[in-house]
Amino acid sequence: MKDLFRLHGKVALVTGGNGGIGKGIADALASAGSDIVIAARNEAKTAGAVEDIKKKFGVRVLGVTMDVGQEASIQAGVAKAINELGRINILVNNAGVNIRKMPQEYRVEEWDWILNTNLRGAFLCAKTVYPSMKDAGGGKIINIGSMTSLFGLGRVAAYACSKMGILSLTYSLALAWAADNIQVNAILPGWIDTPLTVSARKDFPGLNDFVCRRTPAGRWGKPADFAGAAIFLASDASGYVTAEYLRVDGGFGQGGNTPTTVSP
Ligand SMILES: NC(=O)c1ccc[n+]([C@@H]2O[C@H](COP(=O)([O-])OP(=O)(O)OC[C@H]3O[C@@H](n4cnc5c(N)ncnc54)[C@H](OP(=O)(O)O)[C@@H]3O)[C@@H](O)[C@H]2O)c1
Repeated sequence: MKDLFRLHGKVALVTGGNGGIGKGIADALASAGSDIVIAARNEAKTAGAVEDIKKKFGVRVLGVTMDVGQEASIQAGVAKAINELGRINILVNNAGVNIRKMPQEYRVEEWDWILNTNLRGAFLCAKTVYPSMKDAGGGKIINIGSMTSLFGLGRVAAYACSKMGILSLTYSLALAWAADNIQVNAILPGWIDTPLTVSARKDFPGLNDFVCRRTPAGRWGKPADFAGAAIFLASDASGYVTAEYLRVDGGFGQGGNTPTTVSP
């Protein structure tokens, strides 16, 4: 049974794997034996993550400078990864950005930046790694969505569209590539304590209390909370699971947490 979750001999590319949720997932896949490619823009941050994973898990780790908003950058990064580590078996489309403002305040460049990073970038990464996965006889793609993959939020219209799009992309790629033994699934995080949400907590003073009150688990998530879901979706354990999403949200997406004292 243990072998179901082994990732030895696999190579996983994690976009945005140099921090936050992506680093949590890269750590988890490395702990299960996978070699890791960290693909992100900030070279110093990537170098730090590469050293940390090598030291902790002893697997092969490569950092590639990649901007998922640029197709040429994705192609160069994927080519470098395949050249140095031989193949890509697992892709985690995690790189993501957000701008919080009302829809009427969005500039078109801001809309394009968010959609190009979060959605078009995920599509282009999947398209670019596809030949390597097909040649290897199969593969795993894990797309990182959000609670806004399921419902809208007034202050993040562009982000929410990108994350609903991520779910649709997950379903479409899963159907298209099932015959190639490539499983495509999504993880939908709830409210997670990362650099992405630090500014939200500063800008919206009531947010921390709201998250703790509404999340049945009673706390924010942390990057390490993604370990089990990521290993499951990257491993043979999920061989017959595709076009599915898994919420890692402490129960947030299920709705408000009515106190048990007033429940019928
Ligand atoms: N935190 C939450 O509560 C939460 C909730 C729901 C969903 N998510 C999703 O989870 C994912 C990770 O978010 P996080 O919270 O861990 O945020 P984070 O700490 O800000 O990490 C975002 C990562 O994406 C990378 N990135 C951004 N733009 C990129 C680009 N153009 N090309 C390549 N890499 C890029 C960043 O690295 P560089 O700056 O070095 O490029 C960084 O490593 C995102 O997709 C986000 O939407 C987060």
